[in-house]
Amino acid sequence: MAVAEGANENLNPNETKGKIITCKAAVAYGPGKPLVVEHVLVDPPQKMEVRIKILYTSICHTDLSAWQGKNEAQHAYPRILGHEASGIVESVGEGVCDMKEGDFVVPIFNGECGDCGYCKCEQTNKCERFGVDGMKKVMVNDGATRFSTVDGKPIYHFLNTSTFTEYTVVDSACVVKIHFDGDGDLNPYIKKLTLLSCGVSTGVGAAWNIANVHSASTVAVFGLGAVGLAVAEGARARGASKIIGVDINPDKFIKGRAMGITDFINPVDEEKPVYERIREITDGGVHYSFECAGNLNVLRDAFLSAHEGWGLTVLLGIHPSPEMLPIHPMELFTGRRIVGSVFGGFKGKTQLPHFAQKCMHGVVKLDDFITHELPFEEINKAFDLLVAGKSLRSLLHF
Ligand code: APR
Ligand code: ZN
Repeated sequence: MAVAEGANENLNPNETKGKIITCKAAVAYGPGKPLVVEHVLVDPPQKMEVRIKILYTSICHTDLSAWQGKNEAQHAYPRILGHEASGIVESVGEGVCDMKEGDFVVPIFNGECGDCGYCKCEQTNKCERFGVDGMKKVMVNDGATRFSTVDGKPIYHFLNTSTFTEYTVVDSACVVKIHFDGDGDLNPYIKKLTLLSCGVSTGVGAAWNIANVHSASTVAVFGLGAVGLAVAEGARARGASKIIGVDINPDKFIKGRAMGITDFINPVDEEKPVYERIREITDGGVHYSFECAGNLNVLRDAFLSAHEGWGLTVLLGIHPSPEMLPIHPMELFTGRRIVGSVFGGFKGKTQLPHFAQKCMHGVVKLDDFITHELPFEEINKAFDLLVAGKSLRSLLHF
């Protein structure tokens, strides 16, 4: 197959279509090892696949956990991590009708084929073939990878997306076309729309689609990373009267205040359990609590801070295996409920374009989530910033 050499410099799709592209990517070679920015080969898209030129990609805690090798299922190397991005379609494979080269898109790690029993059911955003799957490392079509090293070794995929690369190939079920349906153009929004690929949709969606936060309700958010702050922003947009933010890092409170959080609790400063404190200030507990830290003790606090009879806890954090829920079955007789949430309950292909319009019209404010912008080559620095708790989202550009 022909190779389009020396990517990076805005390749013309007329010259790259149907050819292997050589481009820059950040390759993970082992748990905790610095990512290696090097040239890789990217195959053309096959049937129902799309090749995307990534414009921006950012780092989410799930990339961090995968990079650290916290979950055994994630041990597949070499691998291209990354799942939060935005880009332009470079070319499409046979049968792709809902997008074409030049379209602005965001990849989604939780796809929507539109055909399976789950996709046809309104109550779930699960998809049989393209749902989020930490074990998956190859393409569905042929069980092979579309990435390889320059000396021909396969490089594995990650979370249906693999965005730490200048070009990626994804199933069309995992790509959403976004356009601006008001006056004006999309360009001023492109950076911010990157966040819809994971963090903001996950958080705002959990508040809107899963909890259905109502006006004047009380909310507690545990873990104020981008995901937790997106929950808070979603709750603010719904008119919640009290939004309590819980985090062990007081730096997060500064940002949180600007994003609608009304009360803060730092567990380190508390003598009594956090849930007791929350019950005190909310007349018995919150309507909705959200676990966005990926910590079992935090999950228990979140559960117990919800009001008896009607309180609902939504789980967003990724918890390492093989832990079990820290809740005795009888505790559910209090009427407190708990539910998990993937990608904020959004059916990506059908519902994200509408959510994007709301974001572009200012219903949800996205400005404060991007704390750093760095060239792609500085990706390891962006990981360091997240580990140190200094960033919400670092946007990497090519
Ligand atoms: N109590 C309260 N807050 C905590 C605790 C704790 N014990 N441990 C960690 N946190 C806070 C961190 O200080 C940080 O502010 O949780 C926040 C997590 O934020 P990020 O690391 O920025 O992660 P984010 O990308 O927001 O993802 C949050 O959702 O999608 C999942 O895998 C993801 O589990 C992760 C979670
Ligand atoms: Zn993510």
